[in-house]
Amino acid sequence: MNEELDHESVAHGMTPDDSPELRALYKGFKDNHLNPLWTQTGDLMPMHPKPKAVAHVWKWSTLLPLAEQAGALVPVGRGGERRAIGLANPGLGGKAYVSPTLWAAIQYLGPHETAPEHRHSQNAFRFVVEGEGVWTVVNGDPVRMSRGDLLLTPGWCFHGHHNDTDQPMAWIDGLDIPFSQHNDVGFFEFGSDRVTDYATPNFSRSERLWCHPGLRPLSQLQDTVASPIGAYRWEFTDQALTQQLLLEDEGQPATVEQGHAAVRYVNPTTGGDVMPTIRCEFHRLRAGCETPARREVGSTVFQVFEGTGAVVMDGETHRLEKGDMFVIPSWVSWSLLAESQFDLFRFSDAPIMERLNFMRTQVDGQT
Ligand SMILES: [Fe+2]
Repeated sequence: MNEELDHESVAHGMTPDDSPELRALYKGFKDNHLNPLWTQTGDLMPMHPKPKAVAHVWKWSTLLPLAEQAGALVPVGRGGERRAIGLANPGLGGKAYVSPTLWAAIQYLGPHETAPEHRHSQNAFRFVVEGEGVWTVVNGDPVRMSRGDLLLTPGWCFHGHHNDTDQPMAWIDGLDIPFSQHNDVGFFEFGSDRVTDYATPNFSRSERLWCHPGLRPLSQLQDTVASPIGAYRWEFTDQALTQQLLLEDEGQPATVEQGHAAVRYVNPTTGGDVMPTIRCEFHRLRAGCETPARREVGSTVFQVFEGTGAVVMDGETHRLEKGDMFVIPSWVSWSLLAESQFDLFRFSDAPIMERLNFMRTQVDGQT
């Protein structure tokens, strides 16, 4: 890619002389809801992605106290539906969009509160950085939420949450709300004002059916567009990452790069992403590991699960600790640096970009 050239620097063929006739022509365009390409080519077809969204970090030490204040002041119930506070990218005009495609929020549920059931076209997940005591009920299946778990609520599944304890709980939500809103694809339906099942089992029915390594129930041979697994438990994620680093110690190929273990959460019926629009991954870096700078098409959000380190985005270094969240917009250069062992949950819109053949990746030191 020639970084030197842009539309302005090569323009020589379509700059008409000003004249009353030209002005009349442009007025004719405007009066008839027309807009010529040649005056805006660089905006409409940039040489590479130029996102309005900006790289940004939200500190957990800021997010959690604000969510707690919301818990004290704002009741949760029908209409507002959820006490969820969306991360609003500073480049996107105040809308609760963390990126042009993704929504990320901190959600807070007080002791013994219930968030009523509903369903929508948008795909959703929850990730728990700390706490326990809430069950999310997905199509009638109660799913325990605990630290390190990824919980899925794919599009059009009924879901509500209830807190079974005397302690509040906060977690993060990720959805494809902005993508859905830009493209007018959303439907919504109210369900029960309470959750349909207040049972508090350790494992959901979906886990009892599906979560046995490498084994697929013969009653479930039809592939599904979203994963049928309600909860991906921390115990297994942690084991998978631990084993990758141990294998690396033994000289075996296991990690994505030296000192960098990573897993993708997958739909067991296809081996593909957990939901059609959202990719979820977990990354573990050894202390001292630094990943090469990379750019990717599409947007990504990380949350630090454990440890300390930093992210460098567009050349700016941001120090990070547990719970901190950050967004990397399309084609923004980024790399991670681990001070201690550094565990991060990641989600992105990569399934959209890959399915539509827009994905590109550029990694420093690779062609
Ligand atoms: Fe929802």
